Amino acid sequence: MSAAAPETAGSIGVFDSGVGGLSVWREIVRQLPHEDTLYFADQAHVPYGPRSQEEIRAFCHDITAFLVGRGCKAIVVACNTASAAALKYLRETFTGLPVIGMEPAVKPAAAMTRTGVVGILATPATFQGRLFQATAGRYAEGIRLVKQVCDGLAELVERGALDGPETEAALRGFLQPIIAAGADTVVLACTHYPFVIEPIRRIVGPHVSVIDPAPAIARHLGDVLDARGLATHRGRTGRHAFFTSGRTESLREALAQLTGVRGTIHRRDPTQRVVTG
Ligand code: DGL
Repeated sequence: MSAAAPETAGSIGVFDSGVGGLSVWREIVRQLPHEDTLYFADQAHVPYGPRSQEEIRAFCHDITAFLVGRGCKAIVVACNTASAAALKYLRETFTGLPVIGMEPAVKPAAAMTRTGVVGILATPATFQGRLFQATAGRYAEGIRLVKQVCDGLAELVERGALDGPETEAALRGFLQPIIAAGADTVVLACTHYPFVIEPIRRIVGPHVSVIDPAPAIARHLGDVLDARGLATHRGRTGRHAFFTSGRTESLREALAQLTGVRGTIHRRDPTQRVVTG
């Protein structure tokens, strides 16, 4: 089976366990509107957070191979959990193109905090990964990091429950220890969480800064494309393709709810090598 697909050749491949990576994708499109993108949501396997590093790495391998097979010129791992488990491996394995990942925004948080206390919201697998340890070790000297695992929060976002009593109660529970510790900065270290940034801001109050790393990632991607001579010329409008390993309706609805974009969704599960539409 040939995976060559001229219509997506030269795209920026962006992937996540589900719809969270759309928080990064929308920033890429905002900053680099002339670039084509291919977004892949691994909704057959969401959430990644409770899974083992090995299993996540295997999914990431197959998805990246799929994106490379579709002619992508760069890969953005728009998922902190996947980056924690697989970024180094992907860079070592797919050497022919830049692979950009998420790393918890400890560096900007450390520069910003005045109380010296920073809250970090992430999945269990992100905190287990070496990437987090390395980032925290490098940038958080003299800073107290209050790590908070947000069990079930990515699933609420996947379901489109962005506000309302259930999400509000879950967020209050996650944020309470961070507020109690005196944090003045909160890092969203899961790409699903920017979609609940408004209720998070409401709960922590105006004196606490909430950091969404997506704009910085999109800027970094632009710099990398320029530096490697991979940028597309600016006088055009990018085209966007969307794939999910789950239900096409789920991604279609989430895309419209979260980004206002209406797109055609294709179903594909590269981890099973099956094409269904
Ligand atoms: N969006 C993913 C992240 O950035 C996590 C969601 C999941 O658990 O699958 O970490």
